[in-house]
Amino acid sequence: MEYITLNNGLKMPIVGTGTNTYGKENNDYNAALTNEIPELLSALELGYRSIDAAIMYRNEELVGRVLAESTVPREELFITTKVPANEEYISSKEATRAAIDNSLQNFQTDYLDLLLIHFPIEDKGQLQNTWEVFEEYYEAGKLKAIGISNFKKEHLEELKEFAKVKPAVNQIQINLKEPNKDLLAVLKEEEITPVAWGPMKTEAQQKEVLDKIGESYKKSGAQVLLKYQIQRGVIVIPKSHNPENQASNLDLFDFELSAEDMKRIENL
Ligand SMILES: NC(=O)c1ccc[n+]([C@@H]2O[C@H](COP(=O)([O-])OP(=O)(O)OC[C@H]3O[C@@H](n4cnc5c(N)ncnc54)[C@H](OP(=O)(O)O)[C@@H]3O)[C@@H](O)[C@H]2O)c1
Repeated sequence: MEYITLNNGLKMPIVGTGTNTYGKENNDYNAALTNEIPELLSALELGYRSIDAAIMYRNEELVGRVLAESTVPREELFITTKVPANEEYISSKEATRAAIDNSLQNFQTDYLDLLLIHFPIEDKGQLQNTWEVFEEYYEAGKLKAIGISNFKKEHLEELKEFAKVKPAVNQIQINLKEPNKDLLAVLKEEEITPVAWGPMKTEAQQKEVLDKIGESYKKSGAQVLLKYQIQRGVIVIPKSHNPENQASNLDLFDFELSAEDMKRIENL
């Protein structure tokens, strides 16, 4: 595994696993929860240590139980979760504190590695209150890093007006369909690490080119796609229910894409 050092010095695995459909009937985001997550067990067995969770996924407690019951020591795990930008969680500082305390309980831990605001909070007062609670828990050591998700440049500018702690990451959609180039440039300038959600999304034509590029490295198009992101410093959190795909999505560290291929993919 390779790591990216975040702007506060914390090291985050460059590949993690998503969880938004884990532990749900038919792997359906909106379906009822099941009581087990074989995919998470196989991910841990294969070597995934960074787990991308969220309160909105409704499966935090289940994900937390599987992690707590696994043989992987807590200090090897990198647990991310996200507070929704909904009244229930951001209407007051107390509500946000209760949400974080509940997540800590769900993961049966006394600290989270990374906590994100899941979506931009439009009300400035609520944004400030929420971030101040994040900072409070960060200063207390209960959160090792704090960040944002789906924030555009203008949302970031608003946050910067009062933030004492700079967000460590912005988790946004980054893939070949939505390259998000302008925002990536802003994040680079601000030294905020980009985390790509939905990294696997591609058009059929793009997939053909990726498969072709993969031939010369003896890698699949999906591996080329993920390598492209991590080679330019974007953390990826692909999600798979298939152990073969999970294994392949981690097998990215024994090859390097040429500058020419990086450019080709960028222009797809
Ligand atoms: N912050 C946010 O607002 C936000 C939004 C969306 C998602 N997320 C997070 O980001 C994670 C990833 O995003 P995502 O789940 O939307 O999409 P994704 O990881 O881009 O794509 C998942 C799909 O790709 C397939 N796949 C995975 N590896 C593959 C491979 N090697 N070859 C072929 N197909 C492969 C999976 O099918 P199989 O199961 O068959 O492998 C699955 O259908 C989520 O789980 C969640 O944790 C965050």
